[in-house]
Amino acid sequence: MRTPIIAGNWKMNKNPEETQAFLDGVKGKLPESSKVQTVIAAPAIDLSTLVAGAKGTPLQTAAENSYFEDEGAFTGETSPKALKEMGLDYVVIGHSERRGYFHETDEDINKKAHAIFNNGLLPIICCGESLAQREAGQTEDWVASQVEAALAGLSADQVKVAVIAYEPIWAIGTGKTATADQAQAVVAHIRATVAKLYDADVADAVRILYGGSVKPANVKELMAKPDIDGGLVGGASMDPESFIALANYQ
Ligand code: G3P
Repeated sequence: MRTPIIAGNWKMNKNPEETQAFLDGVKGKLPESSKVQTVIAAPAIDLSTLVAGAKGTPLQTAAENSYFEDEGAFTGETSPKALKEMGLDYVVIGHSERRGYFHETDEDINKKAHAIFNNGLLPIICCGESLAQREAGQTEDWVASQVEAALAGLSADQVKVAVIAYEPIWAIGTGKTATADQAQAVVAHIRATVAKLYDADVADAVRILYGGSVKPANVKELMAKPDIDGGLVGGASMDPESFIALANYQ
């Protein structure tokens, strides 16, 4: 059985002081990680506060991005090696905001996935279609091509422990959640894509999240779907009470 994950993505919100206030707010109220794994992805500036505060609690930690080189003259970038040394667990890559605003390509995302594994971290790999692509009937092919490109060259053992997040762009921050059936259909297609690229064991093991206007009011219905293993949550992950409610959806 796949352990569910509730992951928050704070995007470019919160400073270290606000991060500490969040940690104080969720303390003692998150489920054991054997039941539901909880993760917060925070801006780079907050990561040392996040890692220190999460120590000894079930909360796991993620960066929202990292570069594909370990060190060097790459002004403004964050090294996966340094993230590992800091004690991070995961790195989110390929978010539609990074693909859109910062022109990240499938090739960049694949290089980042390799660098993340090479440094002993785990990737949360995002994919998802635009509204125009959905309306043109291209969702499944598009998302499958993003997944195939992101996973290129990774071993079966690596993909088994990777996390994929399906986030339809039209549902992000819009209040428009994909219906649970729409989300399930694409997530099942992603799992079938992984089975085709690797095998059934890998597809059974990889965890696939849904993201896009997930909130306490809809998390249960989404999580009831057989292929949806969790949520990648933006807006509703920032308030401690809301995150506690999401994490305790069971
Ligand atoms: O990565 C999470 C995300 O893009 C969804 O954001 O605010 O719609 O939950 P939100």
